Amino acid sequence: MTERFAGKIALVTGGGSGIGRNTARALAAEGATVIVAGRNRAALEEAGGIPMVADVSVEQDVAALLDAIGEKFGRLDVAVNNAGVFGGGMPLAEMPSPEWDRLVATNLTGVYLAMKHEIGLMRPTGGTIVNVASNIGAHGRRPGLGAYAATKAAVSALTRNTALEYIRDGIRINAVSPGPADTTMSLFPGETADDRAARLAVGLPIGRVGSLDEITSAVLWLASPESAFTVGHDLVIDGGATA
Ligand SMILES: NC(=O)c1ccc[n+]([C@@H]2O[C@H](COP(=O)([O-])OP(=O)(O)OC[C@H]3O[C@@H](n4cnc5c(N)ncnc54)[C@H](OP(=O)(O)O)[C@@H]3O)[C@@H](O)[C@H]2O)c1
Repeated sequence: MTERFAGKIALVTGGGSGIGRNTARALAAEGATVIVAGRNRAALEEAGGIPMVADVSVEQDVAALLDAIGEKFGRLDVAVNNAGVFGGGMPLAEMPSPEWDRLVATNLTGVYLAMKHEIGLMRPTGGTIVNVASNIGAHGRRPGLGAYAATKAAVSALTRNTALEYIRDGIRINAVSPGPADTTMSLFPGETADDRAARLAVGLPIGRVGSLDEITSAVLWLASPESAFTVGHDLVIDGGATA
């Protein structure tokens, strides 16, 4: 096992479950000290790593999170802005404004706030940031998911632009856009994770959903020096769905 992150301090938002938890564990397995942030302390404690409760849609929380990391470690080398919520599932004119606001607040404002405060802490020593967008942001084949798709497309756009603003400061920013992955996000009522995987697999050229490790390995590559010349890229990992 290589240790690409030995001695590094890493933050994973939404680290209490799914892609975030798997990423946090993989970073730790490669030597990083990992802070996992989310709203649910019990889930964070179970995930391993150093749990810090924060709602990414609330600037006070995000500022306090990065202040606490700064005080404890004096630096931040890697940030994976993965916290996100799924929702909508209805045509635009039927979507209540609070649902729109909830999606934008976490999926887009949450990434803006995280990067804003991470960059402040990374500036003296440099670092890498990986934002978790979605392949849904790149196409219109999921009617009813326009709001979710718009937040994720915005994350990709924000990634490209912010990457160019900070690359000369030694802060390298990229994104991943997973397709359906093997998590419990977007379960239908009464559906199991296996049912969900089978339902989503039908529409995918590869014929199955992505494993957590298939998403995480791309995140770790973008966060590591192996991808040092990759800047402002949005890496699609979706079994061919947007090919
Ligand atoms: N699974 C997929 O098929 C798929 C595909 C493409 C993209 N993605 C993206 O991948 C990311 C991870 O999703 P996942 O599939 O692993 O689902 P998940 O298990 O539901 O993970 C989402 C995480 O975000 C946290 N979170 C939500 N709102 C938050 C907030 N306001 N502040 C802090 N943390 C918050 C949740 O924890 P708490 O609720 O406890 O705070 C949870 O741990 C998301 O950005 C999602 O949009 C997923």
